[in-house]
Amino acid sequence: MIVTVTPNPSLDRTYEVPALDHGEVVRATGERVDPGGKGVNVSRAVAAAGRRTVAVLPLGGAPGALVADLLHAQGIEVAPVPVAGATRSNIALAESDGVLTKINAPGPELSAEEQEALLETVRRRSRGADWIACCGSLPRGLAPSWYADLVARAHAAGVRIALDTSGPALTAALREGPDVVKPNAEELAGAVGRPLATVGDALKAAEELRGLGARAVLASLGADGQLLVDGAGAWFGSARVRAVRSNVGAGDSSLAGFLIADGTGPDALASAVAHGAAAVQLPGSVMPTPDDLDPAAVVVTAEVPVDRPLTEPVP
Ligand SMILES: Nc1ncnc2c1ncn2[C@@H]1O[C@H](COP(=O)(O)OP(=O)(O)OP(=O)(O)O)[C@@H](O)[C@H]1O
Ligand SMILES: [Mg+2]
Repeated sequence: MIVTVTPNPSLDRTYEVPALDHGEVVRATGERVDPGGKGVNVSRAVAAAGRRTVAVLPLGGAPGALVADLLHAQGIEVAPVPVAGATRSNIALAESDGVLTKINAPGPELSAEEQEALLETVRRRSRGADWIACCGSLPRGLAPSWYADLVARAHAAGVRIALDTSGPALTAALREGPDVVKPNAEELAGAVGRPLATVGDALKAAEELRGLGARAVLASLGADGQLLVDGAGAWFGSARVRAVRSNVGAGDSSLAGFLIADGTGPDALASAVAHGAAAVQLPGSVMPTPDDLDPAAVVVTAEVPVDRPLTEPVP
């Protein structure tokens, strides 16, 4: 069972519009509402794989109730933590030429009591869990050390914990030894404060995060694939992809793939890559089912191609 924690979930509203005209009334031709947030995506991916998951979410107001309803409708168990502020609504404007403009709201500020209730709910719901996956940015009111605290509490309870976040929240959590962190190339570059031009640069940066305390680093490198660095070694995984339809949530799908394959070693990396490759071939943030996976297209090697330039280098 995989418990996900999304401290700042959202109600994602997507409007399809012919074209954006600044300062004009734009009439949408279609509208969609989805539960949003990185941990929510991981839960959706775990559920799509046919595995049990519980999504721990602070939820408030009518948007919060709708997030819970939408997740229940998808068969996903929710552990709500009631908060006074309303859950944020994020807006995406999808133009017919494929350009996507997103407006992300800050979300409610959590009081000290609500923060404690969130930690307590995670503790209660993660008894006997295989993994806790903590994903995304922290809402206002939560100190950058909040994830560090969660890692320490998970370990005290004997539960493994995965972290997908960035900036100070990531840096602060490293010293508590999260079992795996999943930065993308940009987040990895930000964490070490250096540009990344090659797979070798990413490898060095991942090794540095291990030096700072992470037990394993699963770095997703967009179209180039993924790197896993842990105490036993380093591996590089990639997969052939026929046509990329949407990379939204591909990283979240990869993390789910890694965790459901026990979250350790090259076999878990292969599962992460298979899930990432399948996710990009599906529309929007649709998560792959086992039928969508093509494990034969995945190659994992201990010979990391250190000289290979990244398709999208991070300046
Ligand atoms: N253009 C692409 N072609 C092939 N595979 C891709 C592509 N983009 C992503 N992938 C696959 O998905 C994985 C995750 O993608 P990426 O590194 O972009 O994650 P991310 O930035 O964390 O995404 P998100 O946070 O939106 O879920 C990649 O490591 C790769 O396996
Ligand atoms: Mg990501």
